[in-house]
Amino acid sequence: MSIANSPAAKGRYDALHRRSREDPEGFWGEAADGIDWIRRWDKVLDAANPPFYRWFAGGMLNTCYNCLDRHVERGRGDRIALIYDSAMTGRTERFTYVELRDRVARFAGALRANGVAKGDRVVIYMPMVPEAAIAMLACARIGAVHSVVFGGFAAPELATRLDDAKPKLVVSASCGLEPGRVIAYKPLLDHAIELARAKPARCIILQRPQAEASLTAGRDVDWEAAVAAVSPTECVPVAATDPLYVLYTSGTTGQPKGIVRDNGGHAVALKWSMSNIYGVEPDEVFWAASDVGWVVGHSYIVYGPLLHGCTSVMYEGKPVGTPDAGAFWRVIAQHGVSTFFTAPTAFRAIKRDDPDGRLIRDYDLRSFRALFLAGERSDPPTLEWAEAHLKVPVIDHWWQTETGWPVASDCLGIEFLPVKHGSPTKAVPGWDVQVLNLEGKPAKPGEIGAIVCKLPLPPGTLPTLWNADARYVEAYLRTYPGYYQTGDAGMIDEDGYIYVMARTDDVINVAGHRLSTGQMEEVLAAHPDVAECAVIGVADALKGQVPLGLLVLKAGVGRTPGEIVRETIDLVRERIGPVAAFKTATVVKRLPKTRSGKILRGTMQRIADGQAYKAPATIDDPAILPEITEALRDVGYPKPA
Ligand code: COA
Ligand code: AMP
Repeated sequence: MSIANSPAAKGRYDALHRRSREDPEGFWGEAADGIDWIRRWDKVLDAANPPFYRWFAGGMLNTCYNCLDRHVERGRGDRIALIYDSAMTGRTERFTYVELRDRVARFAGALRANGVAKGDRVVIYMPMVPEAAIAMLACARIGAVHSVVFGGFAAPELATRLDDAKPKLVVSASCGLEPGRVIAYKPLLDHAIELARAKPARCIILQRPQAEASLTAGRDVDWEAAVAAVSPTECVPVAATDPLYVLYTSGTTGQPKGIVRDNGGHAVALKWSMSNIYGVEPDEVFWAASDVGWVVGHSYIVYGPLLHGCTSVMYEGKPVGTPDAGAFWRVIAQHGVSTFFTAPTAFRAIKRDDPDGRLIRDYDLRSFRALFLAGERSDPPTLEWAEAHLKVPVIDHWWQTETGWPVASDCLGIEFLPVKHGSPTKAVPGWDVQVLNLEGKPAKPGEIGAIVCKLPLPPGTLPTLWNADARYVEAYLRTYPGYYQTGDAGMIDEDGYIYVMARTDDVINVAGHRLSTGQMEEVLAAHPDVAECAVIGVADALKGQVPLGLLVLKAGVGRTPGEIVRETIDLVRERIGPVAAFKTATVVKRLPKTRSGKILRGTMQRIADGQAYKAPATIDDPAILPEITEALRDVGYPKPA
């Protein structure tokens, strides 16, 4: 498929978007023909129990069958399904659809032999190796519910997820590879299991040659031994509304939210998105440079490309330093990637190391057709740099773990709309995106407010939170009845273009990774010498935002502030993980608050970012702000422009 920019495409977006809103059941019922069903659904949308909506109720399918077996059965088994490219080890491995199906079917057999049945949870704590995708698909094959935990999270974070998901089994590896160091995963897993109340009965461990893990007798099974002893397993029919996976994401507290994804709606929406949003055809090479631990990895490394019959690239490496800022162009050229998806932060890193884009010229990028960016706001200078050097459409698109697939995007397969820098374009068909002002009324064009989506949300979005229906309603649906609250603030302009400006909650975006400042505050508050604290997200030229801690110490603390700051930094790394990138904290005498005691995090953030600010009328003691300004200056904020 080429990019839909011919005169014939004109008006298609408007027509399709209108149809999706006026006749969602007709629209998604047709899209569902892209999926093979074991039993057709009774109702496209079951709205009998609002605000809980169920797509394709009564339908039966298997997601793994749709990703693998059906392509093999239709004679496409020799096409490449997955290319594993490790810049860390220099290894490249290709799996045809037949090979991937066979590996998955065998691992599904191993899961079953180790006691996993339909509906059981399996936690996957893996680096970027093909076995991570194999484990996910194997769960889907037998109707088990996977929950992948990003490798950059520390043991206590993994333990929290074990306690919530209560898995029968954990799949992990001996180690992950980060530039310059081997990260032993197994001790982290062992420690997490020690901490968790819900202990898995079994762990299947992939031994990587860079670090051998010791196995606990009676609990741990070696991956190779597990698959050697079993026969391949068939696909198990599951209900469209059965959960495919649970993916935990940061909320306002230390208790992450378990986003549930169903089987039917997810398969339909992702398959639809591949041709309509990304404009790719089966057999083309699609690459999302993310991690399987994030939603982008679930949707666009594993499920989306395989449902569509594409070749998906799984890349273990970084945009820079593995070995240089030409790493992405090497992968695109070597594997013939047509559509590439990453986070803006990766481009900022590349631009920093190779400002003139010289390395781009070393590679043949003729296959490359479009770049998609998401995960954080795309700053216009980064977009402009990418456009100027790559000479392909650069599409900023906006979505969340909760939504599972893009909410706003230029839909290349429908109609390529003019790009406006700073905007992820318009609501994708299926989505009714609105901005509400402080009174909960529709905002005027250009007026900033809360970005919400009218219920019911389209297929593939979260039907609820894992074992937490009440929290789902409270967190997303209560504030604006009839709407899903995205947690993002922004505006819609006269032309219907959406602008996503900032979060309205404690979530920050660090290098495209979603983190909770509230959760970091909980960790800091646990330090015995900290009386009170606040964590704010401050602007960072590379990572977009980074966290910064302000600590008020208890009276009579005998040690130096420097020592305590260092300990709190270590504590966040130990409790949450290196991915939190918590590297700066400072001690202050007191924190600025309103008269009702609310900490003025927004005001401190503006000071740290060097933006003009006005002390709110409700401030308790304005004299604190100069003290904060000085403390921030001591740790280098605001950064020089
Ligand atoms: N396992 C263990 N540790 C991990 C990890 C993993 N899977 N992933 C990251 N870490 C560690 C890193 O080693 C680093 O540790 P350090 O503090 O000791 O250096 C820390 O977590 C932060 O990692 P990262 O966010 O990758 O920052 P970085 O400074 O190493 O690299 C970028 C900066 C911009 C190159 C990098 O963030 C990047 O590639 N970003 C793209 C983001 C992306 O793909 N997001 C997905 C959403 S689409
Ligand atoms: P995650 O759930 O990790 O995908 O993070 C989702 C959040 O990242 C959104 O709620 C936004 O705050 C932010 N985000 C993602 N994509 C964009 C984008 N294109 N523009 C602005 N913010 C984005």
